[in-house]
Amino acid sequence: MSYRSLFNLPADCHYFNNAYMGPQLKASTEVGIALLREKERPYTISPIDFFTGVEQLKSTYAQLIELDEADRIALAPSASYGFANIAQNIDFESEDEILLTAEQFPSNVYCWQKQARKTGATITFVAKPNSGQTWTSAILDRINDRTKVVSMGQVHWADGSWFDLKAIRTRCDEVGAYLLIDGTQSVGALPFSIKAIQPDALVVSSYKWLLGTYGLCLTYMGPKFDQGQAIEESWLNRHNSEDFTGLVNYEDRYKPMANRYIMGQSSSFIYVGVLQSALEQLLQWGTEKIQSHGKQLKDQIKSGLAGTEFSWDEVNPTGNHLWALKLPEKLDVAAFKSDLSANNIYLSIRGKYARIACHLYNDDQDVDKLLEVLSKYK
Ligand SMILES: Cc1ncc(COP(=O)(O)O)c(C=O)c1O
Repeated sequence: MSYRSLFNLPADCHYFNNAYMGPQLKASTEVGIALLREKERPYTISPIDFFTGVEQLKSTYAQLIELDEADRIALAPSASYGFANIAQNIDFESEDEILLTAEQFPSNVYCWQKQARKTGATITFVAKPNSGQTWTSAILDRINDRTKVVSMGQVHWADGSWFDLKAIRTRCDEVGAYLLIDGTQSVGALPFSIKAIQPDALVVSSYKWLLGTYGLCLTYMGPKFDQGQAIEESWLNRHNSEDFTGLVNYEDRYKPMANRYIMGQSSSFIYVGVLQSALEQLLQWGTEKIQSHGKQLKDQIKSGLAGTEFSWDEVNPTGNHLWALKLPEKLDVAAFKSDLSANNIYLSIRGKYARIACHLYNDDQDVDKLLEVLSKYK
């Protein structure tokens, strides 16, 4: 069976846009429909069901990110919610610096702007150098004794630039800074190991590379947040919440580790079930398979574009699942976009770049059609 047949993408749909919206596996859709139907029979849902799906999801996800303690995972509805919990639990002073990469996704920017306004801390955006220096090395140069937080992606969402998080972790440790990662554009497709990188938090919205529904995000919170304040107080997160007969014996104690940060109504049966099914498939494939397939397609696209004016970053490495083509200087972008659309080619134009996202469902026909259209724009 081909990978593509596991998805519902028509043969003439050339979808290089997983970084915008990941498609859902057909099997996950079936799980979601069955769970939607289950509420027609509410008498089949027992109190323990409010917890078992979430616990299973946490432990499956823990395997994907090489984490021993599944209780360090909190469910959130979005990356912005995850980062709100993180940002409000860091004490800033006016001389502190918050380091972000230039043009990173706003869910990992606005929370820091709010903290900066409140405390007088300064935000520094580190731009991608055009001098031949790598972006990682520019970030390492910019971390200093005033740096309190480095919050960034494993890859940049707009052009796929990959960052050496191990080196950045080492430098953060030298100055006592937090390292907070938005893994929305990498986790699920690129290996990520909590054990190896040791970030203080990792936020991953599930609807792209985790192949989940829109509306669920998984947040790893490290030990520095164990005693923090959550942005809401869900009854599900307190000790003994499984005992529905005793819920008004109000309980001060939280469940351990990151459980205090879990969003209200986290049992969210349909979203949790769909994501569980997707994560099981991702674990079975393994991220290496997604990377090696992506590399094959990337090499085919690059060699097919030899002699055209499309180019790509030769300085910064990228993942094979997400990278970008620099558009020719004189390209008529409006005409280019309508040509893509007429040929059912889906990719995102971000500034001067066309972002190419590849997954296991992409095949030779997708690449041939992409090259056929791109080759017209020499
Ligand atoms: C890097 C990154 N983080 C997060 C998100 C989504 O954020 P949220 O879950 O807050 O809508 C996106 C969406 O494109 C993204 O590219």
